[in-house]
Amino acid sequence: MSSPLLIPDVLCGLLLFCAFTVLCALDCTPRKSVPYESSHLKVFREEGIWNYSSMLMREDLGLLILGAREAIYALDINNISFAKAKASWQVTQEKRNECTYKGKHPDIECRNYIRTLHQINSNVMYVCGTNAFNPICDDLTYVDGKLKLQGKQEEGKGKCPFDPFQRYSSIVVDGDLYSATVLNFLGSEPVILRSSQTVLRSEFKSSWLNEPTFIYMDVVPESMDSPENDDDKIYMFFSENAVEFDFYSKLVVSRVARICKSDRGGLRTLQRKWTSFLKATLDCPVPGNILPYVIQDVYHVRYDNWRENMFYAIFTSQSASNDVSSAVCAYSVLDINGVFAHGKYKTPVPVEASHMKWVMYTGDLPVPRPGACINNAARASGINSSLDLPDKNLQFIRDRPLMDDSVKPLTGKPLLFRRGISFTRLVVDRTFALDGQAYLVMFVGTDNGFVQKAVNYNGEMHIIEELQLFRSPEPITVLRLSTNTSQLYAGSASGVVQMPVADCSRYSSCLDCVLARDPYCAWDLSTQHCTTLPSPSKDVDLVQSLKEGNPSRCPDPVPVKVMNRSLVLGNNIKLPCQKDLILAKVNWSFTGKPLNPSNRKYSIYSDGLIIYNASAADAGRYACGTVEQVLSKQYHRTLAIYELHIPSLVNDKDNTEVGMSKEESPTTAPTVVEPSPPQSRSTMNSLMAIEIALAVVSVLLLALLLWNFSKGHLSLHRFSRQKPSKQPSKQPRSLPPNDSAPYLRQEDTSLESTERAGLFLYPNNNHRNGTDRSLKYAMDESEI
Ligand SMILES: *[C@@H]1O[C@H](CO)[C@@H](O)[C@H](O)[C@H]1NC(C)=O
Ligand SMILES: *[C@@H]1O[C@H](CO)[C@@H](O)[C@H](O)[C@H]1NC(C)=O
Repeated sequence: MSSPLLIPDVLCGLLLFCAFTVLCALDCTPRKSVPYESSHLKVFREEGIWNYSSMLMREDLGLLILGAREAIYALDINNISFAKAKASWQVTQEKRNECTYKGKHPDIECRNYIRTLHQINSNVMYVCGTNAFNPICDDLTYVDGKLKLQGKQEEGKGKCPFDPFQRYSSIVVDGDLYSATVLNFLGSEPVILRSSQTVLRSEFKSSWLNEPTFIYMDVVPESMDSPENDDDKIYMFFSENAVEFDFYSKLVVSRVARICKSDRGGLRTLQRKWTSFLKATLDCPVPGNILPYVIQDVYHVRYDNWRENMFYAIFTSQSASNDVSSAVCAYSVLDINGVFAHGKYKTPVPVEASHMKWVMYTGDLPVPRPGACINNAARASGINSSLDLPDKNLQFIRDRPLMDDSVKPLTGKPLLFRRGISFTRLVVDRTFALDGQAYLVMFVGTDNGFVQKAVNYNGEMHIIEELQLFRSPEPITVLRLSTNTSQLYAGSASGVVQMPVADCSRYSSCLDCVLARDPYCAWDLSTQHCTTLPSPSKDVDLVQSLKEGNPSRCPDPVPVKVMNRSLVLGNNIKLPCQKDLILAKVNWSFTGKPLNPSNRKYSIYSDGLIIYNASAADAGRYACGTVEQVLSKQYHRTLAIYELHIPSLVNDKDNTEVGMSKEESPTTAPTVVEPSPPQSRSTMNSLMAIEIALAVVSVLLLALLLWNFSKGHLSLHRFSRQKPSKQPSKQPRSLPPNDSAPYLRQEDTSLESTERAGLFLYPNNNHRNGTDRSLKYAMDESEI
């Protein structure tokens, strides 16, 4: 029996499905979603301390130095739940009053957020905090198991942001701090600064930095094995308002810039300013998108030979609509280098009244090339440092720091793409698989507290799994990788978690282990376990198939135990079957023939089957399985088998329990759903009224949906109550939480056990937001 709700429900489901197939050609869905409880995390948080936003790995000391609001911790790198030491660093009352007086929030902005943590040498670390909008820095030591601030109270302007919410970046190279942040309280003076003997900084010009958001910087040792005696370079990543497009008033673009480490500024022009500051647009082209994606984080993949180095970067969409999506693009250092070393420059030309247009510069270039580091060729012509550069050269670069060419990603397109989710941070691990090859595994933090573990096999995007790291959906604000311990550390406003890069024991069968295509894991044929590579023992027979996902060497699966169930005539019977894969389809068979999901006698959910109004004809064998598609091949797995039989009249009651096997989880529902006690008229009436109301709302919503669809601004996230970024975009088997739009697709809903006769349908999205946000449709059995 179908409730009137089901008609719009199915239609909505179909529409969603169509929308997905159109919009998500490029999209990627994780194979599995690991909920918080199963993620095996080590957690650190301290009562009353918030905003764990900076980390420094001290693998030499076995420590993770953690910066939070008004506190610094030294955590055991192997188990961060254990804090070895703590140093408090609070704002003085005077500074706090000053800050409050200037209009900042006393409990939010007028505190000391530790934002900078660097290692200076083996004994000394450098730390800066926002200090109630008055940044200061200090030296920090770890001696005799104690963290100690040295009380230097160094000026932090230009080294650390004033605003705790503002992005910035800094590194220490050869003892000098390079920082990209702002110089003033208002945040209107962006700067790229080197705090060395002679302080060097960027020019205050919008052609240099135009309301930038600084993301990342790192050094590439390009002087190494350089035949031209080239210099080391500091690469910076940021987004800013474009100066070169006059079509849009404010268009944000992503940039990579670089400076030479030995830059000393100019003699007259560009005195104490960078003479080697060059920047270029960073492209991460997503098909079908007009507005460029905006950079959010970068990870530097280093090799012994820097020429192989890469920068992995995450980008999110910028658009007025709330249809968020994210991508990962990778860039080779040599490609970036090539644009700066050989590319054309852009130059401003005045058009009409005081308006500038940026076009490619086609005139003659001064020698040496503007912005180039000092190399052998320059030295040969008597230029030994940037102080010797001719004025004409410096003027050129002062006015034209922007390259005409943009930097294109390796392979020309994103390595990973997801709709409906905002990526916030990433790290990339390099691991050697069974085939002897190194694979780069991306760990991408999201704004709802998940990490996506993904690889790209020859252009094919594959998200091995996503793991929920925080119980409540909150953005991951810092993500670090320790290659020594193979652990990942993620921080958020509320705490820090530690997780291993792989937990192969989660793959329970050979098929599961191999089809996961996880480069860290292989199936051990002798012990029948999914084991982490490299395997401790040498002579083991392992199965792994990363690019092909070929499980042909797997032994035949262990047969699934048959569970007996009693059939009570006229009752609704529920057979649980929990699928573990997001992408796989669940299918049921009855006496060897596939069950027709459109038969109204059955409802198939992601975690079970309901047979309505059981009759003698329903007795027999039911089997539940999944079909997983891997590279155009389909793999079947049986998850559960039930034998439904009509109990003999004697011992009718007890038979219900007969045959319940040990494998069943204790939460499994009783097999037979007892008929409900007769409902009172009024309850029935009110339930009926609710249902009719829901039906009306559904029809209205459907109409709205169709209208939106026809207007061409259909976005899946409009259905959801939450911010779209918190939602999975393509979760074919889960539903956004929604109290008012009852578009339950049959296979999309999950089924919860209940002792009552009513049928409760829960959208199966618990894995996404930790808390149980499910809505319940209580449908009285008598109406079914
Ligand atoms: C600090 O944490 C609090 C509490 O979760 C949060 O509301 C606030 O936005 C965080 N502040 C920053 C600067 O991240
Ligand atoms: C249940 O099935 C029987 C026949 O098998 C039918 O007579 C009866 O009307 C059904 N009950 C409901 C509530 O549909």
